[in-house]
Amino acid sequence: LPPIIIAIDGHSSCGKSTVAKEIAQKLSYIYIDSGAMYRAVTLFALRNNIAGNEQVDKQKLIQSLPEIKIEFRFNPQNLRNETLLNGENVEEEIRQLPVSQHVSLVATIREVREAMVALQQQMGKNKGIVMDGRDIGTVVFPEAELKIFMTARPEVRAQRRYDELTAKGQQVAFDDILANVIERDRIDSSREVSPLKQAADALILDNSDITRQEQLDWVLQQVASLT
Ligand code: C5P
Repeated sequence: LPPIIIAIDGHSSCGKSTVAKEIAQKLSYIYIDSGAMYRAVTLFALRNNIAGNEQVDKQKLIQSLPEIKIEFRFNPQNLRNETLLNGENVEEEIRQLPVSQHVSLVATIREVREAMVALQQQMGKNKGIVMDGRDIGTVVFPEAELKIFMTARPEVRAQRRYDELTAKGQQVAFDDILANVIERDRIDSSREVSPLKQAADALILDNSDITRQEQLDWVLQQVASLT
């Protein structure tokens, strides 16, 4: 099978990146977490007082876009992909709640999206890539050979995110996480530019009640059925 593009979209915190990473590893494909790019832009905005208190200064952020450089680097020491913001590893910081609470607002800005989509398309030009996000199958790679739309019940998603953050020693409240998951879905699905929606040709994967291994097997079956 020649290299293909696999687009994985879906709701917040439903394990898109876990599945995407595993598939990429199995197929020796590149994995790109498009959400990390919006998160890095958001961190830049928070640090420069362009965002805060659940607000974003849209004009200032658009003006700052040329100063924001986002890259990914594979760290052979811990075998992890790291997100770099102007050369600094911000992988941990972009996962924290302040970024999560502002990122969906930042992601409504058309100019921000245009810059990110251009980068993403560049990364996928040779195919052999798994990318996860909200608009990958609809906007970034409408020609992707395999499109998957992932979802799970909000409480299940919040519990997984809660377990993940508390395992890292972060003090978080379950209700804050659940509220954030629901609010991000709301903003992502209702925004004007590239809203989160299932592509007409996407396959649905609801993973509320199935294991990681079952998901992986299911996706690999879909890949195999393309041959
Ligand atoms: O995937 P993740 O939850 O890390 O994404 C963070 C946020 O970035 C999403 O809630 C959404 O607002 C935005 N996003 C987006 N388009 C993408 C990926 C993420 O709008 N392709």
